[in-house]
Amino acid sequence: MKALIVYYTETGNTKKLAHLIGEYLHNQGWAVDERWLHAPHEPKSFFGKCLKAFFRVRTKVESTFVVVSPYDLVCFGSPVWAFEPVPAMRTYMQDCVGLLGKRTLAFVTYGSGMGKDRCLGNMAKMLKKKEAREVKLLSVASADINNAGTVKEEIQKILV
Ligand SMILES: Cc1cc2nc3c(=O)[nH]c(=O)nc-3n(C[C@H](O)[C@H](O)[C@H](O)COP(=O)(O)O)c2cc1C
Repeated sequence: MKALIVYYTETGNTKKLAHLIGEYLHNQGWAVDERWLHAPHEPKSFFGKCLKAFFRVRTKVESTFVVVSPYDLVCFGSPVWAFEPVPAMRTYMQDCVGLLGKRTLAFVTYGSGMGKDRCLGNMAKMLKKKEAREVKLLSVASADINNAGTVKEEIQKILV
């Protein structure tokens, strides 16, 4: 069984969560590919990032792995920005092909928690639009990300 974990990160929290998910799957016998989305043209300012995410502006993403058909499970990870997934993840989710009938997981890390359910809900909508068979959701607060034991338990509950 093969899993793809695609994520975006700026300050490392979502990368840590992606790694913990990867580790869990690997220990369950999955072959795991992890990919970090690079978006070279994101605004530098907090406000600029918020505006781009909130108004769902597409962005340039450097990725050559938009075809996800070889995978049994595809996991999409994003920080919450202004109640939304980051532009790079939104763009990637719109562009990726081969999700029909796939198992998927949308996961986010967040700060205050404001808008995290809306963000996950919007990611789920995009995956269902692409006819994913199963959409699981996971969210972890940035304050908890280094508490690997608790995070691993959450991952296990969701992916069991
Ligand atoms: C531009 C911007 C907007 C954010 N908006 C939200 C938000 O609406 N709700 C929330 O709970 N956290 C918000 N955060 C906090 C991030 O989601 C959180 O720090 C996340 O873990 C960062 O992930 P990263 O370390 O992978 O980049 C925001 C952070 C940034 C930089």
